[in-house]
Amino acid sequence: MEISVKIGNMLHEVAELGVLCVFEGNPLPPEIAHLLPAEDFRGTANQKVLLYPPAPLGPRRLLLLGLGSVDKADIERFRHVGALAVQEARALQVAEFTIGVQGMPPISLFDAADAFAEGMEMGAYRFWRYRTNLHTAQTFEVTKAAVFAQPENDEIISSGARLGQIIGRGVTYARDLVNSPGYSLTPEKLGDEAVALGQRTGLKVTVFNKAQLTEQGFGGILAVGKGSVNEPSFMIMEHGQASAGTPTICLVGKGLTFDSGGLSLKPADAMETMKSDMAGSAAVFGAMQVVAELNLPLHVVGLVASAENMPSGDSYRPGDIVTTLSGKTVEVLNTDAEGRIILSDALFYAQRYNPAAIVEVSTLTGAIIIALGMRTTGIMGTDQALLDRLSKAGEVSGERVWALPMWDEYHQMVKSEVADLKNMAGRPAGSITAATFLAAFVGDYPFAHLDIAGSAWTNSPAKPYESARGTGVGVRLLVEYLRGLARN
Ligand code: BES
Ligand code: ZN
Ligand code: ZN
Repeated sequence: MEISVKIGNMLHEVAELGVLCVFEGNPLPPEIAHLLPAEDFRGTANQKVLLYPPAPLGPRRLLLLGLGSVDKADIERFRHVGALAVQEARALQVAEFTIGVQGMPPISLFDAADAFAEGMEMGAYRFWRYRTNLHTAQTFEVTKAAVFAQPENDEIISSGARLGQIIGRGVTYARDLVNSPGYSLTPEKLGDEAVALGQRTGLKVTVFNKAQLTEQGFGGILAVGKGSVNEPSFMIMEHGQASAGTPTICLVGKGLTFDSGGLSLKPADAMETMKSDMAGSAAVFGAMQVVAELNLPLHVVGLVASAENMPSGDSYRPGDIVTTLSGKTVEVLNTDAEGRIILSDALFYAQRYNPAAIVEVSTLTGAIIIALGMRTTGIMGTDQALLDRLSKAGEVSGERVWALPMWDEYHQMVKSEVADLKNMAGRPAGSITAATFLAAFVGDYPFAHLDIAGSAWTNSPAKPYESARGTGVGVRLLVEYLRGLARN
């Protein structure tokens, strides 16, 4: 969607649809106050009233949208309202609309414009790539919004809206990747996608194919990918470079383009959404796109380990012992606990960048859904300062995270008798033992693991800026975390 900022009063600009957002209790502008009884629109959160204002007012249709009380109007509120405006435009089948806010928000104009644009961009997203009957009310696409500002606020609102648009596009990019079917987005195709992203943004991209992985000893990725005709791959996407005062941050993503469970085959219903098992890598792709477009003054390295987990005569088996890139051996007890195995190679690889932090994102365990449900990302790690930063970024970005403990006793649970580690430690604390497994491969580097197995997918969107299926979770969180590092 195209979002522009214009100077002037929206009420006097010609448009098919104008959206006027009003705080609760604020009087309506005199031009329209007389058009309706005051009690019909109070500006309560998400309240909407559609008017057909007479000339000389500009908009053919005028939607009054409630922002709620001023003291509760936080960043998230503005995301909601931006998205609601788009939903209404879609329902009215109006492709372009104008939008303005009556009164001053309690947050900075920059943040309000950012959130507004984020909300619009995310709210406009739908996955219709495979629909051939596109011209229905359901699939109508909203393409343009013009945000109206006072001349003295033009610059701040324009830069806020630009940021929001870039972040929103990072999220919809991730959603597109997650929503792509497994046959069309294989590990090799994900590698092509990384190359295309590099060409588009200037990121330095390197992709290792199966032969290169073999040569370098990526035993974990190779084991998991062995059973599929679609060969595994590994991607490195680099923004900026390491220098004094510029910390290196590694973002690591799980890129299982399809997880059938392998020989430890999943039941049919659990497999339905398993094209989304690369959502961690989609978050890394989306965040890297944003980092490049914002040109953040950081050295950020995105690492994605990708494979397809399939059952075949060639698959890795329960009982196999895999030698990972680190040299550590892993006893495979369940081939469905494959994420931690491919991630072990990527995490070990991250150490060569001497990073200030390694932040890894994965749809790692069903257990996180039992612990936290479908809407919350689990966070685990050993570096409290890093966990605090990410939790804060979660609050600000709207992608909240909740911590589970990583005490020593949990680390004992993934030790194997016949190998250094085992890839499964039973159902108790399933998310934590998966995280402690990962932690064995990061050395002493500050490490955080984000388990998005619940939050990466939704069948029932609850917020106006959400869309069914891939959520694009992780992009906003990672970007907020990195922007915070870039500020200080
Ligand atoms: N990709 C799954 C985790 C998952 C489950 C993601 C549900 C999204 C929704 C992962 O590879 C997996 O299967 N984990 C197993 C581990 C177990 C065998 C130790 C699980 O969670 O059941
Ligand atoms: Zn699995
Ligand atoms: Zn998986």
